[in-house]
Amino acid sequence: MQPEHFTVLKDFLYQKSGLVITLDKTYLLDSRLSPVAKKWNITGGLDAIAQKLRGLPDPQFATDVIEAMTTNETSFFRDTKPFAQFEDTILPSLLQSRANKRSIRVWCAACSSGQEPYSLAMILKEKAALWTGWRIEIVATDLSEDILNSARKATYSQFEVQRGLPIQYLMKYFKQTGDQWALNEDIKSMIKFSKFNLLDSMVGLGRFDVVFCRNVLIYFDEKTKGAILAKISGQLENDGFLTLGGAETVLGITDKFKLMPDKRGLYVKNMGEPQSALKPALAKI
Ligand SMILES: C[S@@+](CC[C@H](N)C(=O)[O-])C[C@H]1O[C@@H](n2cnc3c(N)ncnc32)[C@H](O)[C@@H]1O
Repeated sequence: MQPEHFTVLKDFLYQKSGLVITLDKTYLLDSRLSPVAKKWNITGGLDAIAQKLRGLPDPQFATDVIEAMTTNETSFFRDTKPFAQFEDTILPSLLQSRANKRSIRVWCAACSSGQEPYSLAMILKEKAALWTGWRIEIVATDLSEDILNSARKATYSQFEVQRGLPIQYLMKYFKQTGDQWALNEDIKSMIKFSKFNLLDSMVGLGRFDVVFCRNVLIYFDEKTKGAILAKISGQLENDGFLTLGGAETVLGITDKFKLMPDKRGLYVKNMGEPQSALKPALAKI
């Protein structure tokens, strides 16, 4: 691929989705974008794709390119611990602190094909007796409309349900149809799915008590991570909870959150004075 065309693709993806592509990831562009080239009858490989993206590209073509480059890897109860922490730390705390309001809002900020919000919904269903008369809303968003359609369908392969889903939940909440497993309507109806780009303003989403933003910041640079975490902080209630993925951290990126002691990837808002940079600076005054 010509260097100027690599730059076009790199800049386009960075501006539209935050994805950082380096030259050593050209193979990823190749493998992910060849089905898009086929769909749009484009011959001439990545160079031709880049040329078609220049100026004002067909919006559907632009969306196809952006969506093809997303990594949608996910599974039910992925990494186990965040879901155990939701059940034994987040939920008991909120059931106490929101006892007057009797309402909790949860946001899965990059939900992929739905396994993450549905795992939370199954935990909540198991604990239904604790929140009778409450309103618990789970909002699940993703950049990709294609993957959101899979999430809304909530029909999973044998392979997908074998990854992390406890067998008793499979038996209780899914119906087998051929080689597919369809999630029951009562769990499906607990989630509101919608398209949302983490690069956009979050104000319209309203405020949340819990945010799961897992395994998506890893694709962004520090500037984008910092901006997204600052916006999430703006939408999170002061005593709310943020869960990040196993390879993600706020360290060195933002002072807006602090890790809960003895927890993995579970953060609360840092309501104290700014840490790091400011303190040494003040000490010199
Ligand atoms: C690896 S999946 C993570 C799914 C789930 N949170 C988990 O941990 O299993 C990353 C998801 O982030 C979405 N994504 C990528 N860039 C995004 C953006 N700028 N805004 C919103 N979602 C984005 C992708 O479409 C993809 O579904």
